[in-house]
Amino acid sequence: MRLLVTGGAGFIGSEFVRSTLSEHAADQVTVLDKLTYAGNLANLESVAGDTRFQFIQGDIADPAVVERALRGCDAVVNFAAETHVDRSILEPDAFVKTDVVGTWTLAEAARAARVQRFVQVSTDEVYGAVLSGASVETDRLDPTSPYSASKAGGELLVMAAVKTYGLPALVVRGANAYGPYQYPEKLIPLHITNAIDDQPLPVYGDGQQRRQWTHVADFATGIDAVLRNGVIGEIYNVGNPEPEDSLLVNLDVSRRILSLLGKSETLLQHVVDRPAHDRRYRVDASKLVALGWKPRWTFADGLEQTVRWYAEHQEWWRSIKSGETHQTYYARNYADRSAFAR
Ligand code: NAD
Ligand code: DAU
Repeated sequence: MRLLVTGGAGFIGSEFVRSTLSEHAADQVTVLDKLTYAGNLANLESVAGDTRFQFIQGDIADPAVVERALRGCDAVVNFAAETHVDRSILEPDAFVKTDVVGTWTLAEAARAARVQRFVQVSTDEVYGAVLSGASVETDRLDPTSPYSASKAGGELLVMAAVKTYGLPALVVRGANAYGPYQYPEKLIPLHITNAIDDQPLPVYGDGQQRRQWTHVADFATGIDAVLRNGVIGEIYNVGNPEPEDSLLVNLDVSRRILSLLGKSETLLQHVVDRPAHDRRYRVDASKLVALGWKPRWTFADGLEQTVRWYAEHQEWWRSIKSGETHQTYYARNYADRSAFAR
């Protein structure tokens, strides 16, 4: 298979590229990535010399760029997106441009190029908060943030292209991923790296929110199963099936990180909550399990491995955290919050 992987220089996309090239010897991969603040060529260093790998810098919202990138490709996996909920609250426009308009531009170009498969990577956040039970793929969408609403728009447009034009597309709705190479703005890498530096760990509100922490390697094998075995026009949830108690509430995730690093809980700092903060997500991934998906990581083991990775790869995240882009965002998102700490 010759694959176009958009957003392949990001967290999950780069894991997917590395695992595809190591597991599927006959595959070729082209990455198309705009290299926003979240894109990082260091994430692809291990495959850069592989003759089956090619990198193109460009925007999925640019029709000429996507037309060129798609030449000769049989399949597309669209990871490219603006992905951070807090940034979508501060600056929503980029989310509409990439997650809605960019997704549509790419889907149209894929239709013209007659690709055989198009996988749209979406999110469990499109269901909105789920206070009990688990979302199934037929549940109604009720997104809360500009991020989740933009992702809902993107996947609805892809499904419209399936129904209207016969685009051979599938949608994956993913739960919270964590693991190596995650940009240190998201809860787990932010709290690990702050703890290493003895900096406060900002906990939004009461910290009793729940996420379905799914190791990035399992997330990537879930996408692979949908790409190769999924039924066109179908939607598949991907999320860690462990019992909820093992996945912890946010505050306990942060406490576990501190304990793994031998740091004091006095670093925990409750701050003003995120607006419209979804209290809980959980998906039922049985449909993906029926395709043969077998998640391998428990959250306990995965969190330990992730903490170790950040402790051993400080050059990777220090170069991000010391940069002006990150520092400007950090000051903007957290300065007022800390001033109004509970
Ligand atoms: P990320 O923020 O780490 O990476 C996003 C990548 O997309 C970056 O490399 C960035 O440069 C690239 N990109 C952004 N805008 C682009 C554009 N206009 N054109 C081309 N490239 C562009 O994201 P991630 O956490 O790896 O998420 C990947 C996908 O998975 C996203 O679609 C996201 O919505 C979805 N998802 C993420 C999670 C999660 O927990 N991280 C969970 C469910 C779904
Ligand atoms: O559910 C899937 C989604 O998970 C993906 O679609 C998104 O791309 C991804 O960013 C993630 O969204 P969340 O908002 O759940 O992830 P985040 O790591 O930002 O936050 C996780 C939880 O931790 C959430 O309840 C907010 C809380 N939090 C987050 C940060 C950054 C804090 O308490 N403090 C923080 O500093």
